[in-house]
Amino acid sequence: MPALVDPSDPGLAVQWPLPQQGPIHPGDGPVPGEGSSGRRLRLGVMASGNGSNFEALVGACRRGELAAEVVLLAVNNPGCGAVARAERLGIPIQLHDHRQAASREALDNALAASFRAVDADLVVMAGWMRIVTQRLIDAFPDRLVNIHPSLLPSFRGVDAVGQALAAGVTLSGCTAHLVRLEVDGGPILVQAAVPVVSGEDRAALARRIQGQEHRILPLAVRLAGERLGLLQPPPAQG
Ligand code: GRF
Repeated sequence: MPALVDPSDPGLAVQWPLPQQGPIHPGDGPVPGEGSSGRRLRLGVMASGNGSNFEALVGACRRGELAAEVVLLAVNNPGCGAVARAERLGIPIQLHDHRQAASREALDNALAASFRAVDADLVVMAGWMRIVTQRLIDAFPDRLVNIHPSLLPSFRGVDAVGQALAAGVTLSGCTAHLVRLEVDGGPILVQAAVPVVSGEDRAALARRIQGQEHRILPLAVRLAGERLGLLQPPPAQG
């Protein structure tokens, strides 16, 4: 029997959002792309676990696919995989252990202060397993991006992949979106569809979804930067 081809063909799976009507919270003006004299978009990243999305973002920046640089990784779990990745990649790390924080608001105030201190333009929640408060959202209005392993608005919250399998859906995927107070509820930037292969287990589906997350997260950052007026869109193809 021939090997099953992954139906989430990279050329087909990403659905670009419709064009937006201008910037949402305009920034201070465009950041010219790589190769020009201007600076690149400065990204803060928040991670709690493995950190594969964090590394995908760093990779996209370093390959020149995104006119940005990751200037700080914030983690809440000291020994998490993201820390080892940041050490290997030479990205500064700060620990914001939620167990040491007086409240969710205090944690978010500290995170906001850290990202402001490094002059971050955008902050990406790349597997941040804590609910954030209005403090962080207000500190980075329309500049806080999250990645979630489902086609939102379906299957919000924990174990989205398990929820999708339990519901018997035939099409799953992932979503990069702007963060609002409602968990996994903000405006959608980019989605990728990942068909569920008959008989595959949760781990296998989660792996394929993650492969798509790594592709759409840099796209979402670029789109958010362009909509905010922080990044110049690429010239239109003739
Ligand atoms: C991703 O699946 C993301 O959608 C979810 O947490 C996971 C993080 O994975 N929010 P990693 O730490 O980036 O490998």
